[in-house]
Amino acid sequence: MGKIVVTGGCGYIGSHTAVDLIENGYDVISIDSNIRSKASILEGVKSITGKEVKNYQVDLTDYEATKAVFEAHPDIEGVIHFAALKSVGESVEKPLLYHRNNNESLVNILRCIRDYNVPNFIFSSSCTVYGNPEKLPVTEKTPMGTAESAYGRTKQIAEFIIQDFARANTANNSVILRYFNPAGAHPTALIGEAPLFRAVNLVPVITDTASGKRDKMMVFGDDYDTRDGSCLRDYIYIMDLANAHVKALQFLEKNNNETNCEVFNLGNGSGTTVLEAVYAFEKVTGIKLNYEIGPRRPGDVVKIYADNKKAVEKLDWQSKGTIEDIMKTAWDWEQNRKNYSYGE
Ligand code: WQD
Repeated sequence: MGKIVVTGGCGYIGSHTAVDLIENGYDVISIDSNIRSKASILEGVKSITGKEVKNYQVDLTDYEATKAVFEAHPDIEGVIHFAALKSVGESVEKPLLYHRNNNESLVNILRCIRDYNVPNFIFSSSCTVYGNPEKLPVTEKTPMGTAESAYGRTKQIAEFIIQDFARANTANNSVILRYFNPAGAHPTALIGEAPLFRAVNLVPVITDTASGKRDKMMVFGDDYDTRDGSCLRDYIYIMDLANAHVKALQFLEKNNNETNCEVFNLGNGSGTTVLEAVYAFEKVTGIKLNYEIGPRRPGDVVKIYADNKKAVEKLDWQSKGTIEDIMKTAWDWEQNRKNYSYGE
């Protein structure tokens, strides 16, 4: 098995994917600037796999520093590119930071892939590219919508950059993975979501509320056109998402791709409302959550969930984790993380 570069390897999805890559026989190195992550999370990866993952603390907008990593590793077989700024709210306030960081990094990575003949490239995109879809569930053929934030727009632009790159560089094979809502933690509770700043996403906000880090949480609106009035999302268990990256790599290694730029939706294929997620946490943990119904959050998509048939069939992949698995593993991690240097 070859050497795989995981950019953003110290992040939530990157670290969980590193575990699955190692357990499938790959040798992994990380490139992560650690502006929004801690390299020490890789101690957790080592606890799980027994393998050391080296992190190159490099800002990917620095082309020379990025290139030096590829220069040092002529045996790189693939790159999985997670590294990006991803706070929807921050991106609305600081669009230029997001456009520069997310897409200058991507262009530098693609330059290295081209110049160092790396055959396989996997890109972390997002269901945000669909905006507020008219028809549900969304398939890969659902047209891109109006991105509600600069973050979403950087993902839309990134996909066009990769399509243009693929057209000009037929020796490289790309897969674009559109994540729905990643959540949960590794079943050992040795790694999980560890936002450096105050959690914004629903599941870490729930576990922060349950642990007392927050005294209460808000449900942003219960007057939407959904079965209980709260927003509907497709929560995908983090280890299923991680495994999809291994399957995508194997898909490319076996030359099963029809074109050199394929797109897949990665969701579990069913929707859960915010209130249903809250109730699932309470049921699994027996903890009563202190929440209030608050005003709608600007920019929120009302409802979205995936048609994941293409990934299931072509990548030979399964989304197995349930919303209860997500809540159980997230809560186990929240209770355990204070025992680790990298957990707080
Ligand atoms: C989910 C639902 C909130 C917090 C974003 C990105 C997406 C991906 C995941 C990167 C919404 C509600 C939340 C709270 C709440 N990012 N909520 N109270 O906005 O669906 O997706 O994160 O991979 O690309 O767009 O995720 O978890 O913030 O919100 O009611 O305190 O939970 O309104 O309906 P979102 P989220």
